Amino acid sequence: MHRVALVGAGLVGSGWAIVFARAGVEARLYDSQPGQAERALAAIDASLADLQRLGLLREPPAAVRARVTVAGSLEAALEGVDYVQESIVERLDAKQQLYARMDALAAPGTILASSTSAFPTSAMAGAVPGRSRCIVAHPVNPPYLVPLVEVSGAPFTDEQVVQRTLGLLREVGQAPIHVRREVHGFVLNRLQWTLLAEACRLVADGVASVDDVDAAIRDGLGRRWAFIGPFEVGDLNAPAGLRDYLARFGPTIERINEAAGFRLDPAQVEALHAARRALLPEPGRAARSAWRDRRLMALTRHLADAEPPPEAAPADRA
Ligand SMILES: NC(=O)c1ccc[n+]([C@@H]2O[C@H](COP(=O)([O-])OP(=O)(O)OC[C@H]3O[C@@H](n4cnc5c(N)ncnc54)[C@H](O)[C@@H]3O)[C@@H](O)[C@H]2O)c1
Repeated sequence: MHRVALVGAGLVGSGWAIVFARAGVEARLYDSQPGQAERALAAIDASLADLQRLGLLREPPAAVRARVTVAGSLEAALEGVDYVQESIVERLDAKQQLYARMDALAAPGTILASSTSAFPTSAMAGAVPGRSRCIVAHPVNPPYLVPLVEVSGAPFTDEQVVQRTLGLLREVGQAPIHVRREVHGFVLNRLQWTLLAEACRLVADGVASVDDVDAAIRDGLGRRWAFIGPFEVGDLNAPAGLRDYLARFGPTIERINEAAGFRLDPAQVEALHAARRALLPEPGRAARSAWRDRRLMALTRHLADAEPPPEAAPADRA
């Protein structure tokens, strides 16, 4: 892959620019809002400086930044690119219109991938003549620090497009997974929002405060989740592995889930929001967000240096 187009240069589009440029790929940014691509360049510069300070760039920031250019039109952005990553506003009608235009403009064989958080490929691109090259590649924000990308095609997406997308994303240092069927919210947001629904319920039922629920993740579950997932947690936390874990805790898991009907009324939403604002008044949110990204950089550094897991013994693999 030599050249990509990034359509939509907001939070996610500018993060993608770092992913591709850092990997040696020329990234063309296009945004329909005048001045936005230039604002994205300033944000990219700030992130590259932070990455360099933490030893996470193999080249000087200027060398990475030189690969990011701004295109003045969608036509210019899509000219001669191998791959398009669309990251515009999360509105189905806007994505549908854009897919129709991109399909008309992009050379045959160019992959048209979307950053959408929840729309299936068939909803965005089902009516497009070149729909077999359309796919979802859903990143996690910011993509240059959180490597997971969820790759999800529609039944009409060419299998080669799926495999090429997975391969291209691996090449630029991301960690793609294949979501094999079109489901709303893919894998990550289904997990994240199921957890958030339960978090809201715990607070609404008076079981714990907003801060204490966050602490259960921050100081508890999150510590393990930085390097292993819930299946592996279960597998390592019972003497005889995952089957044993599910036998021990299965009835409790079932009981909790049976009672888990989720409804949030507007008053509860307001109370949750007010609790967060009391913990972090609005003027501090941007600085906290930048702090989060620096902590993610330090974690990335730690994970890069961390002891590799032991190889599974051949008998365990059988
Ligand atoms: N923010 C996140 O945490 C996150 C994470 C993963 C995926 N996503 C997805 O990424 C996409 C972008 O989200 P974001 O947070 O960067 O939003 P954002 O509002 O920061 O950026 C969207 C940009 O798209 C531009 N735009 C709108 N319509 C356009 C068009 N037709 N052509 C070109 N540019 C256009 C806007 O001017 C804006 O700059 C959404 O689909 C979102 O669901 C967001």
